[in-house]
Amino acid sequence: MEIPNNVNASLNYIGSKVRLLPFLHSVMSIYIKDFSPLSIADPFAGSGAVVRSFRGKVNSIIANDFEYYSYVLNRAALIPTTPASIWEKLSRLNELLGRRGFIFEEYSEGGKAGRLYFSRENGQKIDAIRQELELWREEKSFSETDYFILLAALLEAADKVANVASVYGAFLKKIKNSAQKSLRLTATKLSPVNTQMTVFQKDAQELVREISGDILYLDPPYNARQYGANYHLLNTIASYKAFTPSGITGLPRYQRSNWCRRQKVEAVFEELIATAQFSYIFLSYNNEGLLPPKKIQSIMEKYGRYTVHSQKYQRFKADKNEARNHKATATEEFLHVLVKN
Ligand SMILES: C[S@@+](CC[C@H](N)C(=O)[O-])C[C@H]1O[C@@H](n2cnc3c(N)ncnc32)[C@H](O)[C@@H]1O
Repeated sequence: MEIPNNVNASLNYIGSKVRLLPFLHSVMSIYIKDFSPLSIADPFAGSGAVVRSFRGKVNSIIANDFEYYSYVLNRAALIPTTPASIWEKLSRLNELLGRRGFIFEEYSEGGKAGRLYFSRENGQKIDAIRQELELWREEKSFSETDYFILLAALLEAADKVANVASVYGAFLKKIKNSAQKSLRLTATKLSPVNTQMTVFQKDAQELVREISGDILYLDPPYNARQYGANYHLLNTIASYKAFTPSGITGLPRYQRSNWCRRQKVEAVFEELIATAQFSYIFLSYNNEGLLPPKKIQSIMEKYGRYTVHSQKYQRFKADKNEARNHKATATEEFLHVLVKN
């Protein structure tokens, strides 16, 4: 399967399923012959890689994640088509002169806090673009869709030049080569489709209680790493509200997921499966996850016909020094399937 151009591979996202898309689509096709009249919901959408690959292929899509940066990325990608007005706005933002603001002072080289997440130039560019976007929004000089496309373009561009090993848990001591490149906004031209698309920012439990449909794709976190901590700077750029950053890493207060807690995960998982009003449930879960495969099976098979598929693949671990994605380790990804009673 060819990876469609609306699937965002530029965000270096933990647990991204970009490279597993051919596996996911081929397993789903065993159970479903015609996707076109069906609906799909992805309550843990993250970078949106999976749900975006169904844009134009299904009748309707619901994407959700409880992190705001994910909401922004998915609002930008799950649209009927790219508005023509975007290109001129992108170039105006790219031409802005840098400004000293919250991101420069708290998270950039030369700022008062001394945190090196961005070079001096890029920190000031992020502030300039972010402030301009808020101004345009206040002036109502563009649509909500334009706002989210441009904000998502900023998140993706900032992530490319971030001075981190892979996530935002810490910054590197010296500005690495890729972080010295100038931040530049780009966007993908999306061809028109008829799929109906809705994006939420809710807790998955809450969302699943409120919706129903045909296909439910679940890709919850599988270990203790909280996304809100690992991607805090994307949330800070996206919301752009001043606060007092804490400690050396400059963390804001962040949401904690029950899916990352050993004592809670089994209960939230069973509740989700029990309440889900969907005909097909596909669950991606790693073999090193908090819930062992046998536990997943014992819960899922209570609610219908259960099967499991797996694929070995190379997962890339961040290299602490220079570029990202250097060290490959073999891992096995499971796709648990439940055809509900
Ligand atoms: C494994 S990632 C999903 C990756 C995604 N399929 C992709 O390809 O990019 C898990 C996602 O679940 C989100 N998440 C964690 N707990 C959540 C909750 N309780 N409700 C909704 N989303 C949650 C995280 O923010 C994260 O984006």
